[in-house]
Amino acid sequence: MPNPGFVRGTHHLTFCVGGAQEDYDFHARLLGLRSVKKTVLFDGEIPIYHLYYGNERGDGSTLLTSFPYRQAGWMGKRGSNQARSLNLSVPVDAIGFWADRLSDHGIACERSELFGTERLSFAHPCGIEYVIIGDPEPDARVPYGGIVPAEHAIRGAYGTTTSVHQADPMVFFLTEGLNARHVASDGQRHQFQIGDEQGHGRMLELVEEPGVPQGTWHFGEGTIHHHALDVVTADNQALVKDHIVGLGFTDVSESKDRGYFHSMYLRSPGGLLVELAYSTAEGFFIDESEAELGTHMCIPPHWEHRRGEIAQLEPIETLERVS
Ligand SMILES: [Fe+2]
Repeated sequence: MPNPGFVRGTHHLTFCVGGAQEDYDFHARLLGLRSVKKTVLFDGEIPIYHLYYGNERGDGSTLLTSFPYRQAGWMGKRGSNQARSLNLSVPVDAIGFWADRLSDHGIACERSELFGTERLSFAHPCGIEYVIIGDPEPDARVPYGGIVPAEHAIRGAYGTTTSVHQADPMVFFLTEGLNARHVASDGQRHQFQIGDEQGHGRMLELVEEPGVPQGTWHFGEGTIHHHALDVVTADNQALVKDHIVGLGFTDVSESKDRGYFHSMYLRSPGGLLVELAYSTAEGFFIDESEAELGTHMCIPPHWEHRRGEIAQLEPIETLERVS
């Protein structure tokens, strides 16, 4: 029986990086994304930045969000049973532009072709693998008109690639749990599509790497933390959860209020931490106007009394005016 609920596509992709400045420079100055929110990790014990990047309005599926952990000294280890790469969509003929841009900035990149798409792999300064994919499908997402010309700009998530020791348990989870469709396989690599026509970031890929040691799942520099899927509404979030729990994946969390969206989390059998998220009506505009997105340090109400600690976080020199 298929899941009676649905996922639309990606909501956001989240990862743990090193320095905050280094991360800002990589996403805003190199990749040309807009800083759409600066806040702190919602339920952390110590203050850690939570930095959001995306398009002009911070639309779902354009969002990359980072936790800079270097100041706290928490390290992660990349490996299998973990998300291995963040995959981003660009127009199909923009790969050459990005190869030149990355090279001009001294960043090594490798071109490849997989599942009928041209790809460019490179690394975030903290080591996380990024893959820019020339997406042949039409993409209505409006990119941020900042540093990178719109014709070449990153549209948002294409999806993620998860490294697994064996594919079968994860294939069961994707197809039976999330109504994913198997698109193609190429050796040890497999591509699945989730979501509906209105969604973006719908490609979940697996690479079988049985010889690669397990990566870490805790917060730690240099690792991808989770892939959030857009479940659009509270009712649908509950439907999706109930079906997944019924399949035996019983470790799905309660719905948690994240201020800008509501989230549930579960560890998939491939090791990828999956979030089921839906945006609130106000979304990112609850504490900043569209014009001001990303210019303030937005402190959640339950962190207000710890402003002094938050002020000890590494200052970030930004393109935007910070107030
Ligand atoms: Fe998240």
